[in-house]
Amino acid sequence: MSTAVALTAPHKRLEDKVAIITGGASGIGASAVHLFCENGAKVVIADIQDDLGRAIADKLGETVSYVHCDVSNEDEMMNLVDNTIETHGKLDIMYNNAGIMDQFLVSILDAQKSDLDRVLQVNLGGAFLGAKHAARVMVPQRKGCILFTASACTAIAGISSHSYAASKYGILGLMKNLAAELGQYGLRVNCVSPYGLMTGMGTAHLSEAEIAQGEVGLSEMGNLKGQILKADGVARAALYLASDEANYVSGLNLVVDGGFSVVNPTMMKAFNAIN
Ligand SMILES: NC(=O)c1ccc[n+]([C@@H]2O[C@H](COP(=O)([O-])OP(=O)(O)OC[C@H]3O[C@@H](n4cnc5c(N)ncnc54)[C@H](O)[C@@H]3O)[C@@H](O)[C@H]2O)c1
Repeated sequence: MSTAVALTAPHKRLEDKVAIITGGASGIGASAVHLFCENGAKVVIADIQDDLGRAIADKLGETVSYVHCDVSNEDEMMNLVDNTIETHGKLDIMYNNAGIMDQFLVSILDAQKSDLDRVLQVNLGGAFLGAKHAARVMVPQRKGCILFTASACTAIAGISSHSYAASKYGILGLMKNLAAELGQYGLRVNCVSPYGLMTGMGTAHLSEAEIAQGEVGLSEMGNLKGQILKADGVARAALYLASDEANYVSGLNLVVDGGFSVVNPTMMKAFNAIN
């Protein structure tokens, strides 16, 4: 390849890599599927929304496939990983992204144990099973990347329900413990932790105008102005962690929140109110 071509050709950051993305039929996961595919990866979408997942795979062509997998079911997770190895011969990236929410900001006085069980089973249980079965095939390979979508609620309190916060803190602890165990085998383990964004989980019943209004509201509540966090903004952070550019990054909780979790705005609000 000539220098001129090398300088202008788009750099595919996941060339020859094989990735599984759970929750890949919608929102952040669907954005990651598109971005990983554009960057040269072979991608397996794992989700329970079969029509949506298959439609994305059909649109993107033969390098993207869909497997039905409820991440909280160990047999289905085992099948997902085994199926990927049978088809592609290896697994480089396991992006454990599938997740659910319960009632937003519900008080502990009204919270139900059944909601805690459900949220833990999918968010934390699914992350645990995804990591376990990915490690099963990655340890013998002596390389691999395990990624999770946690949440900015792991960096600042009071922005989610207690069940959701517990599930995402659980993922953070799991990620760090896995990074400690799996480093000796050359495996990297990291989290992406987004601020709020308008994706499938909270928008199914909303019109486009209501979604746009929600995005503006989240942006106004946020710290970084002039930007709106969209699914592809989170997917790009995941792409970095999944790529060889992050080859010495492990045990990191990459918070994608425009600085929201490190700023306490109360003093400036009070100051502005009296000036
Ligand atoms: N949207 C936000 O504001 C926000 C903020 C921080 C973190 N997150 C996290 O981002 C991740 C992706 O969520 P999103 O915002 O893209 O929402 P989304 O609802 O658009 O996507 C979630 C996907 O997970 C799938 N899923 C749910 N339960 C599953 C199961 N048992 N097995 C397999 N797949 C399952 C859904 O079908 C869906 O396709 C989640 O882990 C969520 O907790 C979201």
